[in-house]
Amino acid sequence: MNYFMGIDVSTTGSKALLIDSSGSVVAAASSPHTLSTPRPLWSEQDPHEWWLATVNSIRTVLGKTGIAPDAITAVGLTGQMHGLVLLDDSGNVLRPAILWNDQRTQTQCDEIHARIGRERFIQLSGNLALTGFTAPKILWVAQNEPEIYARSRHVLLPKDYIRYRLTGEFAMDKADGSGTVLFDLQKRGWSEEILSALNIPGEWMPPTFEGPEFTGAVSTSAAAETGLAAGTHVAAGGGDQAAQAVGVGAVEPGIIGLTVGTSGAVFAATPTAMVEPEGLLHAFCHAVPGMWHLMGVMLSAAGSLQWYRDTLAPDLSFDALLKEAETVPAGSEGLLFLPYLSGERTPYPDPQARGAFIGLTIRHTRGHMTRAVLEGVAFGLKDGLKLIQNAGLERITQVRASGGGTKGALWRQILASVLESKLVTVNTAEGAAFGAALLAGVGAGVWPDVRSACRETIKITGQTLPDAKDAKRYQQTYSLYRELYPALKDSFQKMSN
Ligand code: XUL
Repeated sequence: MNYFMGIDVSTTGSKALLIDSSGSVVAAASSPHTLSTPRPLWSEQDPHEWWLATVNSIRTVLGKTGIAPDAITAVGLTGQMHGLVLLDDSGNVLRPAILWNDQRTQTQCDEIHARIGRERFIQLSGNLALTGFTAPKILWVAQNEPEIYARSRHVLLPKDYIRYRLTGEFAMDKADGSGTVLFDLQKRGWSEEILSALNIPGEWMPPTFEGPEFTGAVSTSAAAETGLAAGTHVAAGGGDQAAQAVGVGAVEPGIIGLTVGTSGAVFAATPTAMVEPEGLLHAFCHAVPGMWHLMGVMLSAAGSLQWYRDTLAPDLSFDALLKEAETVPAGSEGLLFLPYLSGERTPYPDPQARGAFIGLTIRHTRGHMTRAVLEGVAFGLKDGLKLIQNAGLERITQVRASGGGTKGALWRQILASVLESKLVTVNTAEGAAFGAALLAGVGAGVWPDVRSACRETIKITGQTLPDAKDAKRYQQTYSLYRELYPALKDSFQKMSN
């Protein structure tokens, strides 16, 4: 039997997952990371911590299973996207990584649009420059930490730092490469025009590979640290959203991946490099060779519910909170929640957007507030889905739901009714790490391509149908919801100033 390992360097921890060559999960382990917010809007992590957590998770999986390390044919990598890791000439980390949810770079985003032209930038990269993405972070370091910038020689993303530690190679997959917005989306490679307009030396950027391609092999020293066999292949893998999509089978047009994790995403694979003309959706390369995707990203999805519980009902379990919400009618009797707790990306690329409960009356209970949070997140995801449909992907055959937020029946039901679409769940709950392991299996030739790997290993396990009455009510509530951000935008700006 051959085995494949997926490694996911997420914001909360590093996970190692082992599958066999039939795609069954053999074991998984995760080790946590700490997050530092040294200033408001900043979000940083120490890449060494990722490495220690990765080593720990790999060792735990190997220990649990007792599988001989040389039975693992290949490792696939995935992780949080967009985070900037800067290394010097000898491969030393120069400063803490600046993460995807860091919001310090609005000035640099504006500068990128001014230097290249907003339209030209969208045309080349497929995206607006947003605070979450990597390019403005590099400019920020150049302008605010010139001594670090002067010593920089390599730009990597979180999982590619782990690749470097595993193999000694500088390499990146194309999905994550495009998430730097230094990519020519159409050409699936670095954009000389963007790099030179931003004065970023092209030689700092690593070569990029399609998801299943091998980028190197585990070195002797990494083998000694991790317990993996020296020479184990390391596949390119993909940024977490693309790998997550592989992990649920959102690898062909028509199948939408809907993820409700800390952040939320609506993901559609596209056969060509489609772009939302205003840059309101992310347009990146898929981890499937020769495919792209459109994606709406909501920064606080299940994160909104987590914040709400931690802040207002820390002694209550999620189950108990959701039980209260079950008895509240659809629409929460006029109470609405705006989920922009960390600013927003889709459909409002605005780091200054704020969360809000609107419409509170003396009649509303905690159950109403909980339900309003679930509904507000569903409305935000509907915004992303509508943008995808308007961009030309009207034909949706299936919405595949995944992530912690879709585990409970109530939220799934609300999502189905708000999106007015059947939601299906699949047998693979391990998300991005599973997708990365499948990519490694494809690289090793177990499956001829990513689509076949998904078709053979991913099965539908359940479905949730929209409730016709609720769906009608939600159409009305959604149009109210749509009025709120435009009405409050200026106030949000003043508040954050
Ligand atoms: C995607 C994004 C997030 C991070 C979180 O654009 O920023 O999903 O990848 O891990």
